[in-house]
Amino acid sequence: MLPEPNFPARPEQFIGRYRQIEAFEEALRHSSVTRRMTSFAVLGDWGIGKSSLLLKFAAISARPEHRFLPVSLSVGTDLIDYRRLAERLLDKLAETLARSESIVDRVRAEAKNWKLKGISVGGLNLERETARFLSSGSALLSHALDDAWKRFVKPSDFNGAIFLLDDLHNLPSTAAAALAIRDQFQSFGIDSLNYSVCFSAKASYFSGIRSFAEPAVRFYNKLYIAPFTPEETSDYVQAVFGKTPETSQALASWLFDKTLGHPFFLAFISRKLLAHVGSSVPGSPARHWPEILQQLEQEKFSFDLGQVSDRENELLRTLAKSSDHEFTPGQFVKQSDYVYFRRLTDKGLLVRTGRGKYKLYHPLFRLFLQGLRP
Ligand SMILES: Nc1ncnc2c1ncn2[C@@H]1O[C@H](COP(=O)(O)OP(=O)(O)O)[C@@H](O)[C@H]1O
Ligand SMILES: [Mg+2]
Repeated sequence: MLPEPNFPARPEQFIGRYRQIEAFEEALRHSSVTRRMTSFAVLGDWGIGKSSLLLKFAAISARPEHRFLPVSLSVGTDLIDYRRLAERLLDKLAETLARSESIVDRVRAEAKNWKLKGISVGGLNLERETARFLSSGSALLSHALDDAWKRFVKPSDFNGAIFLLDDLHNLPSTAAAALAIRDQFQSFGIDSLNYSVCFSAKASYFSGIRSFAEPAVRFYNKLYIAPFTPEETSDYVQAVFGKTPETSQALASWLFDKTLGHPFFLAFISRKLLAHVGSSVPGSPARHWPEILQQLEQEKFSFDLGQVSDRENELLRTLAKSSDHEFTPGQFVKQSDYVYFRRLTDKGLLVRTGRGKYKLYHPLFRLFLQGLRP
């Protein structure tokens, strides 16, 4: 495998995460009896492997033994409300159907045709009048997905469809959106339309949700993803450098020591190591470390700092100098400046570790801010 730190892992090269995969497969098996697929929330911080896991889930759900239609959508910051999300989802559904190998030609042709005719209403065969009338996102979705179930999903013999929404935290008014999605997908379940949703978001996604939206929190099966364990790191190293247990074990420990199993850093450093040593197992990775670190600074950390204000930059450096790895805003700023912590969290440079507690997103970033070379 050639590590690609800036793309989600390909499903066939996906490493580890057995517990999450088992939970997902268990739900798929269960749904073949109940005809209702559980909805999932994949939660974790930047670079930890959320998008990769969603892609893996999509591939698993499409296998012949499960026969689901996966509809993948990356939620960008341009989706300003639930209505836009609904439209984009319907477009994606139509596109996915039009490309699907597992549906009969007649249905595919119909889906293609509808996509061409009705872009403005999400690519499904809704009359323009009806579309205008259905002004809210949820009304549009219920109508269109009910329609799609009868016309496409059922006739193609799918057990159901799963909407995989990557980075749902990009949608504004988090609590209201989470609640709307939950209401919508719960009612599909009641109407025997086997639609489910599997979304990814920052680890702290649900902690910002107030009590009125608590049903939304309960609705999802929550899968938190952490950095790779030493075993997963070792599997990763073998997939990249080949299976020579003795040398690759030493390399795996060295990499684990540097990255703490963080998949992005693992991918980044492995890729640079490969460039140095070709396809063999690097015997003395430490020799290449200064150069790799420099590349990490140029290609990642200076980009991180490029998106912060002077005040935020200064704050980050102060945090990095602190002897604590975990801290509260009160230790560093007055209450009116707590907002900086939230902004830096939104930018992925701080992570929330608990109520009012934060840390820098990775120890290597901390070292960089300290101006030290480990
Ligand atoms: N399970 C995995 N197997 C192999 N590589 C992975 C895995 N998860 C993450 N990666 C690597 O880490 C990088 C970051 O993962 P990604 O899924 O994009 O994280 P996120 O969406 O949480 O920001 C990917 O580019 C990929 O190289
Ligand atoms: Mg991602």
